[in-house]
This record gives sequence, C-alpha cells and structure tokens, in this order.
Amino acid sequence: MDVRQPLQLLAGLSPTQFMRQHWHKKPLLVRQAIPGFKPPVPRAALLQLAGREEVESRLVQHKDGQWLLRHGPFSRRSLPSLQTREWTVLVQGVDLHDDATHALMQQFAFVPQARLDDLMISYATDGGGVGPHFDSYDVFLLQALGRRRWRIGRQKNPTLIEGMPVKILAHFEPEEEYLLEPGDMLYLPPGWAHDGVAEGECMTYSIGFRSPERAGLAHEVLLRVAEAAADEDDAPIYRDPRQSAVATPGAIPAQLQQFAREAVQHALAQPGALERALGEALTEPKPNVWFEPSSSRGLFERVVLDRRTRMMYDDQHIFINGESYHAEGPDAELMQRLADERALPPQALAHASDEVLQTLSAWCDAGWAHA
Ligand code: SIN
Ligand code: CO
Repeated sequence: MDVRQPLQLLAGLSPTQFMRQHWHKKPLLVRQAIPGFKPPVPRAALLQLAGREEVESRLVQHKDGQWLLRHGPFSRRSLPSLQTREWTVLVQGVDLHDDATHALMQQFAFVPQARLDDLMISYATDGGGVGPHFDSYDVFLLQALGRRRWRIGRQKNPTLIEGMPVKILAHFEPEEEYLLEPGDMLYLPPGWAHDGVAEGECMTYSIGFRSPERAGLAHEVLLRVAEAAADEDDAPIYRDPRQSAVATPGAIPAQLQQFAREAVQHALAQPGALERALGEALTEPKPNVWFEPSSSRGLFERVVLDRRTRMMYDDQHIFINGESYHAEGPDAELMQRLADERALPPQALAHASDEVLQTLSAWCDAGWAHA
C-alpha cells in the first residue's frame, strides 16, 4: 500500500496524514468512506454466525431502564423478534469466517498487523445499542445498513453505573452528534465516550485493534522465553562448595537468589529470544481457530494466506501462526512480502528457492495458505 496516497476511506487523507493527525489523538468522521457499500454479511448470515458454538457473540437489550447481557451462541428463536425494539446482537471476529469481511479489514492494513484485532458486526433493531461507554482501543465504526446516531465526547468522568452487566457511563457528556448512513464511517481514539443508537434496523461494522497490556504481554513473552530456555542443553547446575552450616535453615541463600537472577537474565539475553517470543505470541491464532489441512500439489503459481493466518516478521525472523523461522537474504524478502501483502504472485514465486517452496507447500498442507 502506498501510504502517501490520499484515500476516500480516510476522507481524502493519506494513511500517513491520518496516522499523524488522528490516530490515538482525535476522531474523524468520514462521509461515504466506502461509497455504495454493500455489507458482505447480510442479516441472515450474521444471525446464523451468532448461532455457532465457535463464534463469540453477545446480546444486549435495553428494557425498562435496565441493560441486559447474554452470551451466545443464539438459536434464532432465542433472540428477540425483529419487531421487538432496543436489542442488538454483536458478533466478534467475523473476518475469521468470511473472506470478503477479511478483505475489508485489510483496507486498514496501514496500521501494523500486530495491532489489527478483528472485525465485529452488530445488528440492532430500532433504538438498539450498547449504551454510552468508552473503550480502551481505537475503533473504526463503519455503517453498513440503516442509520445509527452517534453521540461522542471526551469523557472527564469515567464513573460507570454500578451493577450493570455492560459498561454504562453514569454521566455521559456528549459533545458532538452524527447520523451515519451506509458507507459512512467514524474513527474514535481510545477513551472517547460514545453512544450509538440505531434508527430503524441497523448494522455497524467495527474494525478493532488490540493494545497489549504490559503485564499480560510480559506473561506471554516470559512464558515462551522460559520454554526456550528449558530446551537448552548443558545448562549449569547450582553449586555451593562454600555454603556454611546454618542455624536458620528456612532462609534462602543469597547466592541462590543470585543464581536465579542470572538464570533469568541468561534466558532473556539469548540473541533474539525476546523478539522470537514476541513474534510467536503475536501470531498465535485466536482461540477457536482451526485450519483445514489439504494436500497441495507441490508446485503452485501463486500463494494466498488463509484469512485466519497471522503472519508477521522482524529483522531476523518470519512468524506464522505461533511458529518462528530464521530467515535472511532473498528468502526473507519473499516471506516478508507474503506477510505484508498476504499473497505472492507467480512472478515472485518463479525465483523462490527450493527451501521456500517446500515451506510454502507445508503451509498449504496445513491449511495456513492456499495455492
Ligand atoms: C455497536 O456496534 O453497536 C457497538 C460498537 C461500539 O460502541 O464499540
Ligand atoms: Co464502543
């Protein structure tokens, strides 16, 4: 993607300008971000997805001043009727189940894949919504069907109404109001309060991002670093020839604490250990994702990553679905291109090394890519 090219998707801003002026900073309303937008997942298909065990879905209903929350899967009969007002069903990760939705999300790949999370679709009847709240993530809210009235504001008071199953701001302070029509889009940075209310039947697509929280990321990375360290051969064993006799046997020897400190530092100091652990963690497939193995023909003209595949890279490695490969030279360049573009055309494959072709073929067999 040429990130200096102005995009209708971003109200005529280039991705570079958008990231500099709006990302994480201020909202952007885009009228007709996608002109003539036809939602790839119609209502019936969405409600069917909400009925599947492996799909994460929620029902939010506003009834007699109360907010109700139920988790899916939902059979069609367990949802309120289409004539009932003020309910919404939210289906997470639709990009994992539908190629066109996945392709739509990739229009936002001017943000690193490591930050792109998923595409959620909500369906609401008249008056439906999830109430005034704020999220800790950036979001693009693309209006897909019908109209939704958004009120947004920088919230000074983050107090939530107590005892509600969903996060509802106790004192919502809207500053701006927009009525979104199909194809319109609203970008919101983290922390901006928002309340979207359906005006008639309504579908909204949310392109969401993941922002790792420090402690959780440390947990994931350290776990992987620890696993790699456990595989190390000839690791030294603790020795204490100078240990004196103790009258306080409960006390941990300072020398053992030092040994532990050095063991952890050693594991983290291995070249690429942290980078490898991070890349593997970031490309770990989402829970409930499985691939359908298929037998590739060995020779192929082009390769396309499966929509569920997560692929990233750093200077030394290629990461795919939680695994890492050391790569350099032209092989690395080719794999980096595959990670960036999610496909390799025939011209690119014509010069691929045998090793790359074998790896690609194994990925196709695993269902991670398709020839
Ligand atoms: C919705 O689509 O109704 C909810 C999106 C959001 O507020 O984050
Ligand atoms: Co929200």
